[in-house]
Amino acid sequence: MEISQGKFVVTGGASLIGSHVAEQLLQRGAREVVLLDNYALGSPDTVKDILGDPRVKLVRGDILRINELYDTFEGADGVFAIAGFLTLPLSQNPSLGLAVNVEGQVNIFEACRYRGVKKVVFSSSVAVYGDPSPGLIEETAPANLATFQPAAALYSCTKMIGENLCKLYSARHEIQAIALRYSTVYGERQHYRGVNALYIMENYDRIKRGEAPVIPDDGSEVHDYIHVSDVARANVMAMASEVTGESFNVATGSSVSLNRIVELLVKVTGTKLKPVHKANTSAVRASITSQLDFSVAKIEKLLGWKPEVSIEEGIRRLIAWREREDAVQSHKPAA
Ligand SMILES: NC(=O)c1ccc[n+]([C@@H]2O[C@H](COP(=O)([O-])OP(=O)(O)OC[C@H]3O[C@@H](n4cnc5c(N)ncnc54)[C@H](O)[C@@H]3O)[C@@H](O)[C@H]2O)c1
Repeated sequence: MEISQGKFVVTGGASLIGSHVAEQLLQRGAREVVLLDNYALGSPDTVKDILGDPRVKLVRGDILRINELYDTFEGADGVFAIAGFLTLPLSQNPSLGLAVNVEGQVNIFEACRYRGVKKVVFSSSVAVYGDPSPGLIEETAPANLATFQPAAALYSCTKMIGENLCKLYSARHEIQAIALRYSTVYGERQHYRGVNALYIMENYDRIKRGEAPVIPDDGSEVHDYIHVSDVARANVMAMASEVTGESFNVATGSSVSLNRIVELLVKVTGTKLKPVHKANTSAVRASITSQLDFSVAKIEKLLGWKPEVSIEEGIRRLIAWREREDAVQSHKPAA
């Protein structure tokens, strides 16, 4: 599909990932980018930098109200199905989180069918693997939910349902659909809803308050941190391709320990504070492992996508953004 001159809808348009997808669509010459969000979790502030572009339309809408999707999807070439509840918000409100992640996705596909939308790119997650077995994790790896925490397992199940809706609507209704399984996403406009990105954000906040950064346990827990601009590029490339009915890992393929995350935060902020180790008491956690090896061979082969932003560069960009935001806030007159 041609991105240039196309009309695209981003559900969850006020999200971390949705805002970056919108930016890249605009750079690729999209004619119209509709950001649909009900602000349950995100806020219009997330997209304030792009709202000045006349091609961007911000629509307050709920994916649980299908009539609102019928209206918004009219004339759309493609939909980025990004709205969703991550593990942490889902654990806080399971009833709404499950409805949004499951019923909301069904509504998106039904509205696409009704409006003749050609393609859906669905935001899935490496949570579909649960606690993976050691070794290279290809897209065919089985899920292991037996040891996964309940909230993480529920989230994982919602993403499996979303992926199978992609396959079902692709096979039965000729809506092209791709599921992208992101690892831990982080970057500019970072929020506090991602359990693994919190290790970055909470330590940044500690450093700014003059408190020592905290390394959970012995710091050997690893995650695959993928920068949001790489994730957004994967979304746009998936939309542009003719591939359908497939799921892809969107990861760097390298694991980064919490020790390394804190080391980088110390380096980038230039703090003299010495990190301390503390037992990890977080109630909600994703996979807890010291080895992760996601394969990105399939997405490179079929979509031509490769990660580009290193963890050090990504953390530099995130912190530069936060410092700019903090400076703006501190200059605002008191209400
Ligand atoms: N951030 C990550 O690390 C990560 C990793 C894997 C997968 N994902 C998936 O990617 C997607 C986006 O992640 P994010 O971090 O940008 O999320 P986010 O929390 O920033 O955004 C989710 C957005 O969905 C909106 N939303 C919630 N319910 C809605 C509804 N009923 N109707 C319309 N909008 C609604 C929220 O207001 C919010 O703006 C999610 O589906 C998430 O599960 C994210």
